[in-house]
Amino acid sequence: MALVALASAKGSPGVTTTGLVLGALWPRPVLLAECDPSGSDVAIRMSAPGGQPLNSDRGLVSLAAAGRKGLDDDVIMAHSQQLDGGLDVMVGVRSPEQIGGMGGLWEPLGITFNQMFSADVIADCGRIGPSSPQLPVVQAARMVVLVCTATGSSVAHLRERLGQLVHHVDAKLGVLVVGDPKRREGVKQVWSVLDAMSVPVQHRWHLAYDPAGAAFFDGRGQGRLDRTPLIRTAGDIAAEMAAAVAMPTQHDFDMAQAAFPPGSSDGAWEGR
Ligand SMILES: Nc1ncnc2c1ncn2[C@@H]1O[C@H](COP(=O)(O)OP(=O)(O)O)[C@@H](O)[C@H]1O
Ligand SMILES: [Mg+2]
Repeated sequence: MALVALASAKGSPGVTTTGLVLGALWPRPVLLAECDPSGSDVAIRMSAPGGQPLNSDRGLVSLAAAGRKGLDDDVIMAHSQQLDGGLDVMVGVRSPEQIGGMGGLWEPLGITFNQMFSADVIADCGRIGPSSPQLPVVQAARMVVLVCTATGSSVAHLRERLGQLVHHVDAKLGVLVVGDPKRREGVKQVWSVLDAMSVPVQHRWHLAYDPAGAAFFDGRGQGRLDRTPLIRTAGDIAAEMAAAVAMPTQHDFDMAQAAFPPGSSDGAWEGR
């Protein structure tokens, strides 16, 4: 199936919230993987079925230890857990200090995410820059979606990051603006900035800026989530995004070929 990497250029535009809401509405089986080196928010904000706390020892860090012998769907799912509501998540590192233990696992992890049999993967890659350790996950994705807000500084950083990213990734590119549904002008300005760039951004989405809706993904929701502008706008986005990544691309074959050259032992990553 497919890996979609969500990331931001700067600030905190709503990558984690977007990942949670898209994961909740995704039309196929999906795993939300927290690959943000700055530390897990899902483990803090969200709960397991019955309102129990999530197990913060089960996730990316436990996978890093187990995954050195090889990665496949079963290993990935063994280090994932379910949120209240049913979404499968792989909880990220507790703090940036734990990133050191990931070693060279980011690249095989990204490639494995992109070719799981049982689920698509939405990776919350947090803020990305040229020296971000999680960059190999972004590079392995079938689609990279940069999340921004409709403010001047967010768009300026988006522009700069897209200009750089295009040299490092071969994936389909998308931009998702978290913007006030009543102020479409701001979102249109983001699109005109993209139009003026030579970078091919194939997909553009507008997710509602909706504090009451976002509060449900922050452990503070009240009332009916399904009636919020956030959910209403995210439903169409999840459907479009899932459709756009449904078919493997040449990029996927090239990545897999480079990672598993003919004659190599399938799934073993040791020594890479
Ligand atoms: N669509 C949205 N509408 C309103 N507030 C949002 C939205 N998305 C995120 N937020 C809020 O913005 C803050 C940062 O969101 P978060 O998803 O953690 O961003 P990031 O992962 O980019 O750091 C949180 O308080 C969250 O509730
Ligand atoms: Mg985040």
